[in-house]
Amino acid sequence: MNSEQQLNKIAEYSHAHMTQDRTGHGFDHIRRVVAMARKLSAKENADLLVTLASAYLHDVIDDKLVADPQAALDDLQAFLTEIEVSPQQSKKILFIIQNMSFAHTLDGKAVLLPLEGQIVQDSDWLDAIGAIGITRAIYFGGHHSEKIYDPRIKPRESMTKEEYRNLQNETIINHFYEKLLKIKDKLNTPSARQIAEDRQQFMLDFLSEFKDEWQAEK
Ligand code: ADP
Ligand code: NI
Repeated sequence: MNSEQQLNKIAEYSHAHMTQDRTGHGFDHIRRVVAMARKLSAKENADLLVTLASAYLHDVIDDKLVADPQAALDDLQAFLTEIEVSPQQSKKILFIIQNMSFAHTLDGKAVLLPLEGQIVQDSDWLDAIGAIGITRAIYFGGHHSEKIYDPRIKPRESMTKEEYRNLQNETIINHFYEKLLKIKDKLNTPSARQIAEDRQQFMLDFLSEFKDEWQAEK
């Protein structure tokens, strides 16, 4: 199987595993992450199959989405072998998707990702900021019955992974301070940092306008 055929199979596999979710992890998210990974790769000397495969697969073993992450991982590994992805590439893909989440960067336990993983992580994070990031946060918050805003809730610094996962009283606006505004400084590649600049400003403008309007309600 050539790499184009492998990628088509991987896209199908990803699609079959992602279509259930409607909380910001739909296949539209995957498509944008793949497209961005392709774009960022143009400036980097990365293995394109590993990069795009990791982009397609980065959410299929997420413990927020699957009941049994180990079973999902075993299934994925068998699938990669079946479509003749080399053991070295397969190992790299599995390492990347297990270690690239935002939660992994908390607790000071961040794992150094190979270049392909850095590109996919940047692509995933870029999809959480800017206009799309705002929309996804509202969509997610609505689905999880979060309040829109509560001026008494302050951003928490230096949370542990557990605390981050179990965050109570999260509001949609607070999520920007907890996570979205911090993404810009966590990006790995210069091209992603460049793209993040406008998106950051757009979110800051949005928050400032939001708070002005909220005040006016009082
Ligand atoms: P990923 O696994 O793709 O890195 P997450 O599962 O953490 O991302 O989140 C998916 C989307 O939902 C992101 O756009 C993220 O900003 C948003 N989101 C996550 N947690 C919250 C929250 N508590 N409130 C609002 N939006 C959230
Ligand atoms: Ni994602």
